[in-house]
Amino acid sequence: MASRSLLPCLTVLFCMISIMAPLTFGQLDYSYYDRACPVLPRIIRWNVWSALRNDSRIAASLLRLHFHDCFVNGCDGSVLLDDTNDFKGEKNAAPNRNSVRGFETIDNIKADLERACPFTVSCVDILTLAAREVVVMSGGPFWPVLLGRRDGLTASEKAANEQLPSPFEPLDKIAAKFTDKGLNLRDVVVLSGAHTIGFAQCFTFKRRLFNYQDSGKPDPLLDYSMLLNLQSTCPEEGPNSKITPLDNQSVTRFDNAYYRNLMNNTGLLESDQALMSNSETADMVKAYSLYPYLFYQDFAASMVKLGNIGVLTGESGQIRKVCGSVNYYY
Ligand code: HEM
Ligand SMILES: *[C@@H]1O[C@H](CO)[C@@H](O)[C@H](O)[C@H]1NC(C)=O
Ligand SMILES: *[C@@H]1O[C@H](CO)[C@@H](O)[C@H](O)[C@H]1NC(C)=O
Ligand SMILES: *[C@@H]1O[C@H](CO)[C@@H](O)[C@H](O)[C@H]1NC(C)=O
Repeated sequence: MASRSLLPCLTVLFCMISIMAPLTFGQLDYSYYDRACPVLPRIIRWNVWSALRNDSRIAASLLRLHFHDCFVNGCDGSVLLDDTNDFKGEKNAAPNRNSVRGFETIDNIKADLERACPFTVSCVDILTLAAREVVVMSGGPFWPVLLGRRDGLTASEKAANEQLPSPFEPLDKIAAKFTDKGLNLRDVVVLSGAHTIGFAQCFTFKRRLFNYQDSGKPDPLLDYSMLLNLQSTCPEEGPNSKITPLDNQSVTRFDNAYYRNLMNNTGLLESDQALMSNSETADMVKAYSLYPYLFYQDFAASMVKLGNIGVLTGESGQIRKVCGSVNYYY
């Protein structure tokens, strides 16, 4: 008899799950703008291409901007908002100030879109599409992007300071920040592979060169010739804002050299090289260093997860007219 009373319960449970599942991402859709803004893909591609032609680093910068958007209050374009009387935004939070870049490219895309299809495409969707586009144009994998995210109405400097990972944090702290967003340890390893492109300023790794963990000595794990190189690029008393490639084997190519570097102790950030000091993550690094297509496949899957964190849909949020500020009447 127990099985008889269980069956309706299971049926109800099943129905609830199937009703709720579409609600999570059900309002995002691959063809969301197909009718309202068919030129969207071309406008994204053209602007990203011309921005890259002017400044090859913009690929890395746009990818990072998308990450920093999604990690603070979800993917809602909050990282694009300037400070106002109502809130201190994320642009000036410690991980972002004098560091994140690429705002002009997003603004240019938005301006073109407002001419072609006004009040239609959200800033957060522009950022999400641009991040995919730069990876493809840098030789990395393609992934399909669900669309229909709406722009948030606020931003938080405090949340950005608390939630974005720091290169000085140990792996378990970084992993916990990813777990808070619904990402796992594999996503940490896979998404860190984004450091196969772009640059870092001296201050983000300098303590490895001169005073690792207050030892008064360099990080013993760092490859010796790389150490000498970095010490000459970033002398102890030299400028902290000077930049050097995160992956100097192939600065602008989205490949798996990041993992090959980690295998021979030439990762740039402490938080990069730390992936080798945990056996679980070290095994993943090894696999990605050997099999680029495994990395591409997993990177695409993790980017889809990243782009779906805390999205606003339906009546939540708005479609901003200008990406740097919310619309006060709509
Ligand atoms: C796992 C924790 C992470 C830490 C601790 C971290 C830290 C950093 C730091 C310190 C920089 C250099 C910033 C500067 O010097 O101005 C940087 C750059 C960069 N990060 Fe990360 N990052 C992490 C994860 C990610 C993820 C998940 C992505 C993207 C999916 C990403 C993409 C990038 C890119 C592309 C750059 C270069 C940006 C440019 O050249 O403009 N990072 N990261
Ligand atoms: C070209 O790139 C530089 C940074 O390298 C930037 O300052 C400038 O605004 C860019 N120009 C255009 C037209 O995008
Ligand atoms: C990359 O770093 C290695 C190790 O420090 C160095 O020998 C090499 O010259 C660097 N290559 C480039 C292209 O900067
Ligand atoms: C580290 O690995 C890269 C990629 O395999 C290789 O090109 C580089 O020479 C290696 N560097 C050292 C110091 O072994």
